[in-house]
Amino acid sequence: MGIEGAFLTDNELRQSFNERGFVTGSQELVPLLRHAYKAACVSDITVLLEGETGTGKQVLASAIHRLDQKRRASPFVTMHCGSLSEGLVESELFGHQKGAFTGAVTHRKGLFQSAHGGTLFLDDVNDLPQNLQTKLLDVLQRSRVRAIGSDQEAQVDVRIIAAANQPLKPLVLQNNFRADLYHRLNVVRLWLPPLRDRMQDLPTLVLALANFHRDIYQPIEEVEFELITLLRTLPYPGNVRELENDVQRMLFSKAEGTRLGLADWHRRWPEVEAEEHPDLLGEAAAKVWGAISAQGIPYAQAIQQIERRVLEAALNVGGQTRREIAQRLRTSERTLYHKIRTYDLRPQRGS
Ligand SMILES: Nc1ncnc2c1ncn2[C@@H]1O[C@H](COP(=O)(O)OP(=O)(O)OP(=O)(O)O)[C@@H](O)[C@H]1O
Ligand SMILES: [Mg+2]
Repeated sequence: MGIEGAFLTDNELRQSFNERGFVTGSQELVPLLRHAYKAACVSDITVLLEGETGTGKQVLASAIHRLDQKRRASPFVTMHCGSLSEGLVESELFGHQKGAFTGAVTHRKGLFQSAHGGTLFLDDVNDLPQNLQTKLLDVLQRSRVRAIGSDQEAQVDVRIIAAANQPLKPLVLQNNFRADLYHRLNVVRLWLPPLRDRMQDLPTLVLALANFHRDIYQPIEEVEFELITLLRTLPYPGNVRELENDVQRMLFSKAEGTRLGLADWHRRWPEVEAEEHPDLLGEAAAKVWGAISAQGIPYAQAIQQIERRVLEAALNVGGQTRREIAQRLRTSERTLYHKIRTYDLRPQRGS
């Protein structure tokens, strides 16, 4: 391996992460990948990954493990810090001897020992209860664990990679996260930007995500530019996880072909929209009916007024081409154009 990846070109760097499950095509992530590569080569260094939910912290952690020559043949073990059961937590972390307590019918290895030689991934470390923060810090500092019921401590050799879905520093300032544990974890800190700040990644990601499921769906060879243009306008608060779900839904309703495009997007929408917003539309319809019955407005006129208002709202968003507006309305440009003329509407910016 080149010294800490310094001699890799940007492409080679992206390629080596792509091959290990962390897909990216964007230039924005190159500095992050260089740091991650360097950390992977220094097998004992602790890494803290911060980023919103769904940005790929777990896949990046696993890629770092797989790039680590010393550790990659040993296990990558995940500890879900938010869902450790109070009562059993020590036994989960440190293991227990047979007969150590009622129900301990066999000897059990804890997570630390299961990860021996490899990597222990502390997922959602920001959710770790305070009492466990203290216990974790103690193990990290001494690299030794004692199974419940045992009188001997065992040395453990693990690399720690911790992930937090909100920045840890503010939690420390609010006294919700132990400062000493924070300093112990914050050796190499990497921040994964949200998807909306790296839309350059979309073509590569969509193609890769579509082919993750090639055992179930037909392989996808190409992604239409128009589909990417539409996806760019969406906010993606759930980041890559949400994009992955969108891609799966498109594949699910796709009829045939190796090209993923706008048609597949439209096909997946009708049911999804109706399912996701039944109450909103139900409430709106009830209000329209209330107005019709109370004021005697003719039905056709009421519906026209509603359509007009909906279109006005869509056109007033601003900064969008007419094509983008049509895409958001999930209608054709031609229909939109026709409606604009019918209602004599003036978009803020047309194309
Ligand atoms: N760069 C990427 N390449 C390939 N798949 C990705 C990438 N980023 C995210 N994913 C996919 O998105 C989903 C979420 O990723 P991951 O579990 O790593 O997110 P996370 O940051 O750990 O989220 P959370 O904070 O909610 O645990 C996974 O199914 C993963 O396969
Ligand atoms: Mg995760």
